[in-house]
Amino acid sequence: MQINKIGIVGSGIMGSGIAEVAMLAGFEVVLRSRKQESAVSMVGAIERSLVRRVEKGRLEAQEAQDALSRLLATTEIDELVDCDLVIESVVEDLEVKRHLFDHLDRIVKPGAILATNTSTLPVVDLAAATRRPELVCGIHFFNPATVMGLVEIVRPITASDETIAAASAFVKKCAKDGVLVKDEAGFVVNALLFPYLNSAVKLLERGVATAEEIDRSMKLGCGFPMGPLALLDLVGLDTSVAILDALYREFGDVATLAAPTLRRKLAAGQLGKKTKRGFYDYH
Ligand code: 3HC
Repeated sequence: MQINKIGIVGSGIMGSGIAEVAMLAGFEVVLRSRKQESAVSMVGAIERSLVRRVEKGRLEAQEAQDALSRLLATTEIDELVDCDLVIESVVEDLEVKRHLFDHLDRIVKPGAILATNTSTLPVVDLAAATRRPELVCGIHFFNPATVMGLVEIVRPITASDETIAAASAFVKKCAKDGVLVKDEAGFVVNALLFPYLNSAVKLLERGVATAEEIDRSMKLGCGFPMGPLALLDLVGLDTSVAILDALYREFGDVATLAAPTLRRKLAAGQLGKKTKRGFYDYH
């Protein structure tokens, strides 16, 4: 399977990060957003990020220009027709994703791989929504996608060896380290990470320490690059609750029952960095 052209569906931070990684790796990228404003703002975010790389002397201006020339941002889903690989990175909602996979399956050329960036939902459910289940897998990037070195390659029981080999080759060409994982909620990283993040919120609720002290403790006590509450803000509290709910549905482990504060903040629209307010304020 030769992969040259990548489609990305979804206009969040993950979508634009994955697009930037793929463009820089030499792939043609079609970035599909539902709204024109989102498409424009994603291109703006990618441009700014490339300019920063050039300013830091990590990229030649010409390379940034070439990368941008490989990007097409569009609101038309039909533009994905001739992509060799489409990566979906929309909201963590199974029904939304199932509907999208059914739609993608109808419009994207036969033989193309349809992948999901889901962090917890069963990839096999998305494969079953298509008439090409052997060509469906998970390609799970981490936030910020341009910085984090890992990608989980998720193999549902329906995927063919060729699909997994092609997804692995794509990840390698993106200069990321791929780990092949079973199609089980949370895979490796989120299965370990989210009970910990949730526990940090429970510590805060019990008043054991302040948010800043909890975060400082884990940075200085364990050498983590950021504390758990700042990381929840970075990932987004909406995504975090969706991940915890999916983990709880799959394993019934009380450690993954979302702490009440997470749901209260969600109800208040305090989703973290992206809404400028979560456990911290961002201005
Ligand atoms: N987007 C793009 N680049 C970013 C960035 C962002 N949001 N935040 C930081 N960077 C870049 C900076 O530009 C800088 O690049 P440079 O080395 O080329 O100059 C580099 O990252 C380091 O940034 P800073 O010096 O500003 O800040 P830090 O050293 O504190 O690093 C961090 C920031 C990379 C976010 C670091 O704190 C970190 O690694 N945190 C942990 C992140 C993590 O755990 N991610 C996984 C989340 S779980 C997940 O994604 C799964 C999903 O399913 C929910």
